Amino acid sequence: ANEPGPAGKTVVLAEPRSFCAGVRRAIEIVEVALERFGPPIYVRNQIVHNQHVVRALEQRDVRFVSSTDEVPRGSVCVLSAHGTAPAVREAAEARDLRVIDATCPLVSKVHQQVVRAARDDRTVLLVGHMEHEEVEGTYGEAPERTHVVATVDEVRQLDLPSDTPVTYVTQTTLSIDDTREVVDAIAARFPDLTGPGTDDICFASQNRQNGVKALAKRTDVVLVCGSANSSNTVRMVEVAQLAGVRSYLVPDITDLDESWLAGATSVGVSAGASAPEFLVDQLLDRLAELGFDRIQVETTGSEADITFGLPSAAVGAPESKE
Ligand code: F3S
Repeated sequence: ANEPGPAGKTVVLAEPRSFCAGVRRAIEIVEVALERFGPPIYVRNQIVHNQHVVRALEQRDVRFVSSTDEVPRGSVCVLSAHGTAPAVREAAEARDLRVIDATCPLVSKVHQQVVRAARDDRTVLLVGHMEHEEVEGTYGEAPERTHVVATVDEVRQLDLPSDTPVTYVTQTTLSIDDTREVVDAIAARFPDLTGPGTDDICFASQNRQNGVKALAKRTDVVLVCGSANSSNTVRMVEVAQLAGVRSYLVPDITDLDESWLAGATSVGVSAGASAPEFLVDQLLDRLAELGFDRIQVETTGSEADITFGLPSAAVGAPESKE
């Protein structure tokens, strides 16, 4: 299926790849806070799930903590892109921290949906993984009304009458493909169902997964830049593998094992939503040295028109509207 080029070997680059708008904004918030307030700046949890981003900020005296209790009173504390439970925000405010919320606006929308559903006495089914930071934050909006479901079986096992008014929401870093089966199972069990509108859904994960699927069709091996604790990045590797091609996570150029490329005449390259583009540049340089010096682009979506304004707490100006 994969035709070798007439000469040289080919890299096919997925577009879009690397930072989504929410990640770009979260990093910018920390940078603006550094300029405005000066170091040290504290950040609760990894601002985004990427070691390079975290290390580069640490070098500028950004201090990552797992609890706001570790932040000295009165300091600036940024809350990560994945969203935070209200109890955590309240604890931070109670400690007189100057809180800047870098939650992605699309994650905030999910939080608002949960709040609204709970207010309307609906039961919330949150499709996602309890151990993911984002789910912890979203769940925290209405813990007494929310059930986290990751699989069709978990939906079947819910101890709820079928006439329960249900609102479902999904973890944003899961793609529409990832959640489809579970959402279908929810719809089959609970006729009184509401869910997010199309405008509320984050397409970043879906776009990146569509990208690696397209790469899998036309290349011999697919490399995905990003960190092992980034769920959307790891999932991209799995999606490429399921599409029938060898695929590997490349957290760093030093992790590239050249034996992966044995016999390959074409390599697909993409990067997770939290992976900086310089990782892709380094990989392309290395691949060029190994003879993969022709670059083609495979476009499966556009995020060019998606940008989010910064919160007023970071820039000291009225909050911009998206
Ligand atoms: Fe936001 Fe979607 Fe990225 S929810 S952080 S734009 S993956």
